[in-house]
Amino acid sequence: MSKIPSVEICLSYLAEENCPNKVIDHCMAVETLALKIAMRITQDEGILTLVSRAALLHDIGRSQTHGPEHAIIGADILRKRGLDERIILIVERHLGAGILASEARDIGLPYRNMIPETLAEKIVAHADNLITEKNQAPARWTLALVAARERSKGHEKQAARIEILHRELSELASIDLDEIR
Ligand SMILES: [Fe+2]
Repeated sequence: MSKIPSVEICLSYLAEENCPNKVIDHCMAVETLALKIAMRITQDEGILTLVSRAALLHDIGRSQTHGPEHAIIGADILRKRGLDERIILIVERHLGAGILASEARDIGLPYRNMIPETLAEKIVAHADNLITEKNQAPARWTLALVAARERSKGHEKQAARIEILHRELSELASIDLDEIR
């Protein structure tokens, strides 16, 4: 049976994997925002629980690396722990607004579709985009800031994909996600 852990168990996994406190604080901030977004879109308890637990665990791979492979490593850690495959895929697909299999291969990751597809996958990926860091603490960014940051790194495709995801979720939520703090 695949597991959907409680909040407390998720936090214990992060500690057991020796995730830095900064990462744990980030995961908790992403969970808070992801749930706020999700509750604007659905009352489905199953989806809300998946969003919560996957948001808490999305960066568990940062216990080993901060490179993009942390998404794959995180998914592998959770697979070994027997977690529900839906949580594992949310973790694996949380980078930016997703990465095509060909793009994943080009940056040295396995040739694997890492584009968020389900509602829960999309919400966690984008809540993560909107939570960055300021003075060592999690901070809420607007879409404009996130897109500008991507473009400043030359990531035009990623910036455009993030804008599309932001618009899609804003439509579903009937509010611009920038209004949800
Ligand atoms: Fe991450």
